[in-house]
Amino acid sequence: MTFPLVRMRRLRTSNWVRELIAETKLHPSDLILPMFICDGKGVEDPVATMPGISRLSIDKAVGTAKRCHDAGIKLVSLFASIDNSLKDEKGSLAFDENNIVCRAIREIKKQVPGIGVMADVALDPYTTHGHDGIVINGKVDNDETVEALTNQSLTLARAGCDVVAPSDMMDGRVVMIREALESEGFQDTIIMSYAAKYASSFYGPFRDAVKSKRSDGSYLDKRTYLMDIRNSIEAIREIELDESESADMLIIKPGMPCLDIIAQATQSSTLPIVAYQVSGEYAMLKFAGLAGAMDYESCMLESLIAFKRAGCRAILSYASLEVAGLL
Ligand code: PBG
Repeated sequence: MTFPLVRMRRLRTSNWVRELIAETKLHPSDLILPMFICDGKGVEDPVATMPGISRLSIDKAVGTAKRCHDAGIKLVSLFASIDNSLKDEKGSLAFDENNIVCRAIREIKKQVPGIGVMADVALDPYTTHGHDGIVINGKVDNDETVEALTNQSLTLARAGCDVVAPSDMMDGRVVMIREALESEGFQDTIIMSYAAKYASSFYGPFRDAVKSKRSDGSYLDKRTYLMDIRNSIEAIREIELDESESADMLIIKPGMPCLDIIAQATQSSTLPIVAYQVSGEYAMLKFAGLAGAMDYESCMLESLIAFKRAGCRAILSYASLEVAGLL
């Protein structure tokens, strides 16, 4: 059968039929909101490179978590944004049960019990050098870092964190974190590992938000641990390894530049795959919208739907709350 009997446009003629047959639907429960947590009370400190996004003190973060819950969002992800004076070489504050993220976890779990709380596992918001791990003789040492990340994960789990998300790409960290969690009785703590995280330049605004931007303005090079953007077979290997180390869910990051990887991952893995639409992607869409170059809301929706079309189960996006309101 062919034209004119076959007419593809028949199923596009009206809104009801388009709605009826849509293969992909975006729902607030697909969305995860990342939040930057800072010290103080009543603080909403705008991130200059991410219009609409602020670093929030714990009370404000609780309010945002409540609004997420009311909007149907199921999970929020917390990142520390602390003053440089509190950072050191080893990221010591990451292991302090009273650090800003641990306190925020306890408060959100208490005041918004229905929402899941996730926290990033990596040292970069806490280290003076801004690397995700322990630096020895100028190199990020794998095994020392894994030990540190295991401690950080336990610290988070003890604070009541539901999901730990190692974002560092050290080898062997998932199994070490899992064993430590099991041995302390945290058998239900979910590990959502960043399985394929690229050494991307799209993380710029995030580093502004967590104050890990370098004073000379240069972009910190993480290519000895994050993946080379030219590779995709390597991503599949990373996914297989994190799976075999007992990760529960996997993150692919960045998002839009990695749609091919997301599509492959959803074919090759049976674990839920989560896309991370990173800070630079958010900034790109926001600034283009503010400049009048394109319509922000529809471009944002289109980009999120693209993740679902690629096969993702959920999406981390700074626009999550805003978009949940639109849906
Ligand atoms: C830190 C971390 C980063 C992001 C999430 N966790 C930055 C980095 O690795 O440099 C990036 C998120 C974003 O850009 O939105 N380990």
